[in-house]
Amino acid sequence: MEVIPISHSADVVTPQAAAGGATLESVLLTLAYLVASVLFILSLRGLSSQETARRGNLYGVIGMAIAIVATMANSAVDAYVIIGAAIIVGAVIGALMALRVAMTAMPELVALLHCFVGLAAVLVGFAHYLGEAQAHPGNTVLLIEIFVDVFIGALTFTGSIIAFLKLKGSMSGTPLLLPGRHVLNLVMVASSVALAIPFASAAGDAGLVWLLIMTAVSCVLGVHLVMAIGGADMPVVVSMLNSYSGWTAAAAGFMLENDLLIVTGALVGSSGAILSYIMCKAMNRSIWNVIFGGFGTGDTTPSTAGPRPEPGQLDVNEIDVPGLADMLMGAKSVIIVPGYGMAVARAQHAVRSACDKLRDAGVDVRFGIHPVAGRLPGHMNVLLAEAAVPYDIVEEMDELNGDFPRTTVALVIGANDIVNPGAQTDTSSPIFGMPVLEAWKADHCVILKRSRRAGYAGVDNPLFYNNNTQMLFGDAKDSMDAVVAAL
Ligand code: TAP
Repeated sequence: MEVIPISHSADVVTPQAAAGGATLESVLLTLAYLVASVLFILSLRGLSSQETARRGNLYGVIGMAIAIVATMANSAVDAYVIIGAAIIVGAVIGALMALRVAMTAMPELVALLHCFVGLAAVLVGFAHYLGEAQAHPGNTVLLIEIFVDVFIGALTFTGSIIAFLKLKGSMSGTPLLLPGRHVLNLVMVASSVALAIPFASAAGDAGLVWLLIMTAVSCVLGVHLVMAIGGADMPVVVSMLNSYSGWTAAAAGFMLENDLLIVTGALVGSSGAILSYIMCKAMNRSIWNVIFGGFGTGDTTPSTAGPRPEPGQLDVNEIDVPGLADMLMGAKSVIIVPGYGMAVARAQHAVRSACDKLRDAGVDVRFGIHPVAGRLPGHMNVLLAEAAVPYDIVEEMDELNGDFPRTTVALVIGANDIVNPGAQTDTSSPIFGMPVLEAWKADHCVILKRSRRAGYAGVDNPLFYNNNTQMLFGDAKDSMDAVVAAL
């Protein structure tokens, strides 16, 4: 496998280049990569809000198209048939996967894609060692770049496979907690670093054996890190692996002297890290737990372990469909808080219909979105956008949390942990400290769910027993369809 450096910024910025030594081709290539980099930045910016997400996606597609065309036009690239065939096969598989994947299975698809990034980095690293590094012996910087690229790539590869298997349910979600696991991780990282010394000082291709040993250690490290994390906490881990895959690409960019890969890798690496941080903050978890494993272990119980009394035996106030329809029609303002149950029931279209009817009747309706509602970042925003809910009435938690005391009805649809007042008051609660939507402060709080069962964090919700809380038991879609009919 021959790997060709496809961009040399040095070609352009060296004194010779400044004196006019840069070829027209290298200048055009650098220019194309610069435009692609800017488009990727605009793409990320666009994706940060739902109004601009489509445009952001388009920028990303155009940027990637420019990057591919520019790379293909490089005179150092001649394997058009192989590259063309790979692009066609990859595009068909990618399109089919994207069309078929259910929204709730998105994290596992992303985990699978990260595993390909890691594998590609490892293969390119080895190819570069056997090709470029042998052609330029004694280039220690290049050897270190290869070593770092393969290390992060191997870790990302195996870590992502384990995350994929756990999310898919093919592997138990129970965390593997080996005694002294942090020491074990440290030993693996330290030995990988130490292996760089014989690797970089070996003559010829004798360093291959050290590279192989380090790859094996890094693969085990990736498995061990992710095995130590509970299955239900995988979405945060996937976001972290996303970040690792970015840093892998950036390391590959240094190795291949490819500016675009460095910029893109750094963008993915930093945005993945920021997203993980935001998710951890919204879940009141420590980001270090995610990086070093042991996250989601023992301090949460699966939702099925929560209290499960049957409806009817409950010391909660119930409401029926006509009662809820009357309450909503008589309300001045309504805040709808959607959660994981709305996604499971696929109730978003019925919710939109109810919202339309209420707005037509002059009721002020808004949606309150918690940063970790559902099971993946932006889960609720995607579902509401799919149901064509107007963006201007969908607000983030921080924007509308202070408005609940001035709201007639807080309508909680399939949400639980994100409206749990215990997060503010119960220091023994596993979600204590997690910011929550203060639905209990509205005049009336109505909760649509099938039972009094706990949510993801496995804790009971005191909100169910408040005097101003009423519950409508049943599947969220069935309930909302009935409410729409009654409205
Ligand atoms: P949860 O706390 O998990 O509560 C969802 C509720 O939906 C359940 O209590 C369930 O009660 C109800 N439900 C399930 N299926 C339903 C259906 N068909 N119809 C009606 N209700 C249904 O969800 P949440 O409030 O959205 O909070 C999210 C939780 O996930 C947080 O704890 C968060 O930390 C965690 N988490 C989020 C993410 C991201 S990035 N979003 C990632 C990892 C973890 P019944 O069984 O009684 O119906």
